[in-house]
Amino acid sequence: MAELRAVLQSQRACRRFDPDSEVADSDIEQMLQAAVHAPSAENTQPWSFVVVRNEQSRKLLADWWTETWNAGGGDFIRQSVQDRALVADLEYGFNKGGFAAAPVVVVVCADTDRVAEIYAPSSIYPAVQNLLLTAADLGYGSCLTTGLTTFGVDRVRELLALPQNLIPMAAVYVGRPVRKLSPPRRRPATEVTYREKFGAAW
Ligand SMILES: Cc1cc2nc3c(=O)[nH]c(=O)nc-3n(C[C@H](O)[C@H](O)[C@H](O)COP(=O)(O)O)c2cc1C
Repeated sequence: MAELRAVLQSQRACRRFDPDSEVADSDIEQMLQAAVHAPSAENTQPWSFVVVRNEQSRKLLADWWTETWNAGGGDFIRQSVQDRALVADLEYGFNKGGFAAAPVVVVVCADTDRVAEIYAPSSIYPAVQNLLLTAADLGYGSCLTTGLTTFGVDRVRELLALPQNLIPMAAVYVGRPVRKLSPPRRRPATEVTYREKFGAAW
């Protein structure tokens, strides 16, 4: 339990991967095993995972997810996020090859044959988080990107031979981090929690 909490409290988004790092299939399988143990709406388990190692495919996936950033997402974040180091790190991941360098990309899909589209995100993100935590527990760095343009969805479907009922929701990049990340910065739980009614401090 103490170990679980230590992993929970140290997991970070990694955007700088060692391109030569090895990620064993057995480690990916542990991440996926944890992912499929996540809860989902009505236990629909509406997820499919495509593990991509092919260099050209990884570059294409990173490029397509980057398009959303370059189509306005990035401008919005540059204006609204004060943390310059975070913005620079995001920029590195998207536009300086940070994500493309990750030796493995796991594309997480939601299956609309198993769950209504409106429940798709809430049903797959617990699985994504289990995957990220297990990656951290095994000593890997990981990060996810979520937004894809409509056009991007079609290209991902074609590249990965996804049927129409699968929506590629997230790309999870996994590899060894180039450098150790500092501890996560979070607002304390007691600062965002109230007793009985909003406003009554914990
Ligand atoms: C739903 C979701 C979407 C995210 N999308 C991106 C993304 O597109 N690009 C990225 O670099 N990081 C993305 N992240 C990672 C967050 O930016 C990161 O978790 C946050 O800044 C806190 O940093 P830390 O996890 O390193 O402590 C995403 C995280 C979540 C939960």
